[in-house]
Amino acid sequence: MITERVKELVSEIEQATVGNKEQLEAFRLKYISKKGAVTELFDNLKNIPQEDRRAVGQELNTLKNLAQTRFQDFQTAIENSADSNPEMLIDLTLPVAPNLQGSLHPLTIVRRRIIEIFERMGFNVSYGPEIEKDWYNFSALNFADNHPAREMQDTFFISKSEGEVKDDVLLRTHTSNVQVRLMERQKPPIRSIMPGRVFRNEAISARAHCVFHQVEGLYVDKNVSFKDLKDTLYHFAKEMFGKDSKIRLRPSYFPFTEPSAEIDVSCFICGGVGCNVCKHTGWVEIAGSGMVDPNVLENCGIDSEEYTGFAFGMGIERITMLRYGINDLRLFTENDVRFLRQFEGA
Ligand code: DAH
Repeated sequence: MITERVKELVSEIEQATVGNKEQLEAFRLKYISKKGAVTELFDNLKNIPQEDRRAVGQELNTLKNLAQTRFQDFQTAIENSADSNPEMLIDLTLPVAPNLQGSLHPLTIVRRRIIEIFERMGFNVSYGPEIEKDWYNFSALNFADNHPAREMQDTFFISKSEGEVKDDVLLRTHTSNVQVRLMERQKPPIRSIMPGRVFRNEAISARAHCVFHQVEGLYVDKNVSFKDLKDTLYHFAKEMFGKDSKIRLRPSYFPFTEPSAEIDVSCFICGGVGCNVCKHTGWVEIAGSGMVDPNVLENCGIDSEEYTGFAFGMGIERITMLRYGINDLRLFTENDVRFLRQFEGA
C-alpha cells in the first residue's frame, strides 16, 4: 500500500517540471516541506508493521533524496536562467545604435551667421510681411509705374488694381519692403538687417527658383557716407569668407539707391586665382547696394537734407551655394536627408 504511494510519488517527481520561482516553491511545499507528501509518509512509518519498517524506510529515504536532488537541480537552473539575471538578456558586445540627430538647414546656418556678424556691428534685426502692398514693394522704393518688375511675368500678384491708384497686393519680390516699413515707423538713426523669404515668378531650375531668401541692410543717420557702406561690407566679407577676403564695387542701377553698386568678394575657393566657382574671374557677386535715394527717404517721411543712408541686399541661397559648393538651388527645398545630413554639427 505505502509502496504503491512511493512509486506514484517517484514517477510524479521524476516527471515534474519547474520553470520559475513560484513553481519551485509549489514543488517544495508539495513534496518536501513539513506538510509535504514525503514528510507525510515518514510520519506514517510508525504505523508500518515492525518487520517491514526497515525496507519501507529505505524506500522512503530514496524518495526523499530524489525529491531533494530534483529540488536543488531546479533551483540551480532557475538561478542561472536569464529571467533571474537581467544582464544575461543584454548583449554587451552589440555595436551601439547611432543616435541620429537633426541638423540645421544650410540656409539657416548661413542666415544666422550673417545676422551674427551684423549684430556685432550694431545692427538690429527687423522683419516684415511676405504679402505686401505695391507701395512698400515698389512705389515707395522709387520704381517707375512702368518698371518691368511690376509685370505679371516677374511678380506674383494676389490682387491687381483696375484704376489709376496703385493698390495691388502681391508677394514681395525682395526684402526691400521692410526698409520702407522701418523708415515710416522709426526716426533715424536706423541700423537694421532684415532677413526674409521673397517670391518671383520664375520657372524652377538649378539656377532660379520662385521662392528664395534675402537679407536686407539699412543704415540711415546724419552723415552716412559711401565709405561707411564700403567699410561695413568689407568687414562683413572678412568675417563671412575669411580674413584675406577683398571686396570690389561695380557701378550698377537700382531705383531705390543713387549711386548704386554691385558688391563682389574675392573668390574664397581659389583665393582670386580663378576657378569654376568664380568662372575664372577671381570674383563672385554677393550683394546689391547703394546710397538710399533721397526720393525714398522723402517717401518715408525722412528729411533727405538732414539724413543720408546706405542699403544693401544679398541672397542667402547664393552665399550658401558659394560657401558649401552647392550647384543646384532645388536641393534647398527638396528636403532630401542625404543632402541635409551633411550639415550635421555645422
Ligand atoms: N532689392 C534688390 C534685389 O532684390 C537687392 C538690393 C539692391 C537691395 C540694392 C538693396 C540695395 O537694399 O540697396 O535685387
